[in-house]
Amino acid sequence: MRVKPFEQLMIEANHEGHGFKRALSASNLVFLGIGAIIGAGIFVLTGEVAAHYSGPAVALSFIISGIACALAGLCYAELASMIPISGSAYTYTYATMGEFFAWIIGWDLIIEYLFAASTVSVGWSGYVVSFLANFGLQIPPSLTTAPFLYNDATGGFEMSPYGIINLPAIFIVLAVSTLLVVGIKESARFNNIIVAVKITVITLFVIAGAAYIYTANWHPFIPANTGHFGSFGWSGIFRGAAVIFFAYIGFDAVSTAAQEAKNPQRDLPKGILGSLLICTILYIIVSLVLTGIVPYTKLGVPDPIAVGVDAIGLKWLSPLIKIGAIAGLSSVILVLLMGQPRIFYAMSKDGLLPSAFSKVHHKFRTPYMSTIIVGFIAMVLAGLFPIGVLSKLVSLGTLLAFAAVCIAILVLRKTQPNTPRLFKTPFVPAVPILGIICCLGVTLFLNAYAWIAMIIWLSIGIVVYFFYGYKHSRLRNNE
Ligand code: ALA
Repeated sequence: MRVKPFEQLMIEANHEGHGFKRALSASNLVFLGIGAIIGAGIFVLTGEVAAHYSGPAVALSFIISGIACALAGLCYAELASMIPISGSAYTYTYATMGEFFAWIIGWDLIIEYLFAASTVSVGWSGYVVSFLANFGLQIPPSLTTAPFLYNDATGGFEMSPYGIINLPAIFIVLAVSTLLVVGIKESARFNNIIVAVKITVITLFVIAGAAYIYTANWHPFIPANTGHFGSFGWSGIFRGAAVIFFAYIGFDAVSTAAQEAKNPQRDLPKGILGSLLICTILYIIVSLVLTGIVPYTKLGVPDPIAVGVDAIGLKWLSPLIKIGAIAGLSSVILVLLMGQPRIFYAMSKDGLLPSAFSKVHHKFRTPYMSTIIVGFIAMVLAGLFPIGVLSKLVSLGTLLAFAAVCIAILVLRKTQPNTPRLFKTPFVPAVPILGIICCLGVTLFLNAYAWIAMIIWLSIGIVVYFFYGYKHSRLRNNE
């Protein structure tokens, strides 16, 4: 097993010659986390989960996946304070489980970041179409719908009867990628504004909605199981937790900004845990208000929060909610598309990817080549696939990466017991072990096709590793 020596990691972490700007403060990092977290999960998937899996107990689904994330988040925080390098879970695995597993996790993170950016772009497109429709502007559905559909009943892919391409989804990826090439500081500023907008809108929704809660809508809080596994009852709550897990993805993106943080060791844990805590509280409250004002059976729509607002008769609030959602989804895409090139950067520096992936622009000082490559692939996926297909694969990929991070804590406490940690995960080994159990446990409730797609994806990754990374690995060649 070829483990990256810890001393080398420390040199890389402190190496100023990488060319990134250290521009992000602790509050920037918390905002970065919230920017990545609140998005399609709360604005789109909450409705699907309430309507099909959990009913009003969607709040319990949020609590269950929130616990899995909190356990993983505590482990992320220690690793980020110890190894402040932009590769995130990939770097942590390199230091603990060796190059091959690190490559697998790096390859898996592509699902979490790049595929997730495409997923959220599809959600963005849905809200933009609905917002424009409020003003009588109709984009032909053939240009806002993916050509491929997944049929839950047959378990196979079909051609859409009318969809050709999702143009708005492609547009937002292009716009965000362009911004990211221009600069990290500009991107953080843009992110701060957007995060403020989406939190305001969500708070408005909660305040306005709370007065209209009709407690009868919460009865029964856990609807009886329909006879099918995962369709209401407790199995539904757990299936709901697996699907809604998507809503939490992103807090770990904070760790990919390690080399652009002013004081990474002190501030990364704050960014990770602070953003996770704020979002968990917001999610639980929003889901309770939403299911309190609209019967859960009516929430299986692309814009459930807007439907909630319509239901209480506040027509003026509906376009505002849509603007907030559009802004919120944009910032998620921004942070995800920012994280992926930085992971590629770390992998390329290690020789596992071609050097083009670590080229930093001489003027903008951003990893522009990988930003452009990532943006292009994300555009293709966003244009061609629907949100439901992409989101479950993303959740699976992320849960596997989170489990790897929990394992990394257990290993590093043994192999590097004396290395200073500005943040220490409490109750080790209980917290990481429970983290592994919870993350892997939640994966068992995801659809079979997500597992099949993941196995195919990882197999491709293994082939790429043996044809490229194995030969070019810097660690291997230095030896
Ligand atoms: N957590 C992010 C979202 O819900 C990925 O959009």
